[in-house]
Amino acid sequence: MNFFLFCPVLVLQITRFNIAFSAKNMDTKPASINLFSIRLLKWNREKNTRKMPWKGEKDPYKIWLSEIILQQTRVEQGWDYYKKFTKAFPTVKKLATASEKEVYKMWEGLGYYSRCKNLILTARYIANELKGKFPEQYEEIIQLKGVGNYTAAAIASFAYNQPYAVLDGNVFRVLSRIFGVDIPVDSQEGKKYFTALANQLLDKKKAGAYNQAIMDFGAVICKPVTPVCGECPFKRNCFAYKEKRVNDFPVKSKKIRIRERRFYYLVITYRDKYIIAPRKEKDIWQHLYEFPLLESDQELNSRQVAELAVQKEILPAKTGNGFITFSDIYVQQLTHQRIYARFLRLKLDKKPLLPAGSQLVPGKKLSGFAFPRIITVYLSENLM
Ligand code: ADE
Repeated sequence: MNFFLFCPVLVLQITRFNIAFSAKNMDTKPASINLFSIRLLKWNREKNTRKMPWKGEKDPYKIWLSEIILQQTRVEQGWDYYKKFTKAFPTVKKLATASEKEVYKMWEGLGYYSRCKNLILTARYIANELKGKFPEQYEEIIQLKGVGNYTAAAIASFAYNQPYAVLDGNVFRVLSRIFGVDIPVDSQEGKKYFTALANQLLDKKKAGAYNQAIMDFGAVICKPVTPVCGECPFKRNCFAYKEKRVNDFPVKSKKIRIRERRFYYLVITYRDKYIIAPRKEKDIWQHLYEFPLLESDQELNSRQVAELAVQKEILPAKTGNGFITFSDIYVQQLTHQRIYARFLRLKLDKKPLLPAGSQLVPGKKLSGFAFPRIITVYLSENLM
């Protein structure tokens, strides 16, 4: 059955639907659109073997936890974190009463640490203000800190089967390829258009199963770089496949600009203790710990780093004989930034002045603090 034969017509229909958007016409789906969800759910029942620890979970707290972990994180990476978190904190009350230090330590390595901050705030809000009961309505769920449209739709549909369609990079890709939509997904128009399309396609009676199926379909079949079009149940109808333009979709208007930053860390030891401090500024890695940091636009050698540290009063004037090593460059790629870090290790004989907010921590205790990945890698190769 060639149900997307008139793809341009469908696109037009959706555009009109978009203009005339109202709750009333949400339930009137053209038959071809219905077939999309029927075929997707059939693929899910018969072919989808993807296993994940949160799949089929009905506890909204655990679903929320999994969705926060999976924001900006691949399933393979999030898997063990989800296991660790649900084991240590099986209820929202357990998470709410944990210390910040413990939760950040468990989050260490996942990145995007504002998620962890919101996780703690939200757990405490639910435990204290809502008596430990997770909200049940989409409108309440989306009010929670750290929960956006996607996460709210995932929680509301998985836990309560409420009819909200998820829309993320996976869904943009699947829909833009199959329906041949070339509106940039990062434009306001694109967001509106795809939101309308996604909600139009959603099987409202099986919203949870549908949402999980489209996520899995995007990850297993309609993959970003090497989609498995031979196994795709839509291959006879897919606009991009038929036109041999699979890699032209989704369309984006902007290229991400990567900011490059040079970090010089001063690994200062005094009697086997190290100076560390939590990152406070509104910047990457907020709340994580680090060694005293110098950031520079220029590449610096070890002497220049030491001089700058003296200038900034992190080191006393005479530190030359305390020098131990200057590391190779460690690189960490973030979504919009690339960090190049070098570590200058110094040993002091006199107790150093502690920069504001910092503390001296015995080497053996460093592993109890949460550090950015670039520092844990350095520590594991050099100190621990
Ligand atoms: N990404 C975000 N949520 C997900 C889920 N429930 N399953 C797979 N990937 C996801």
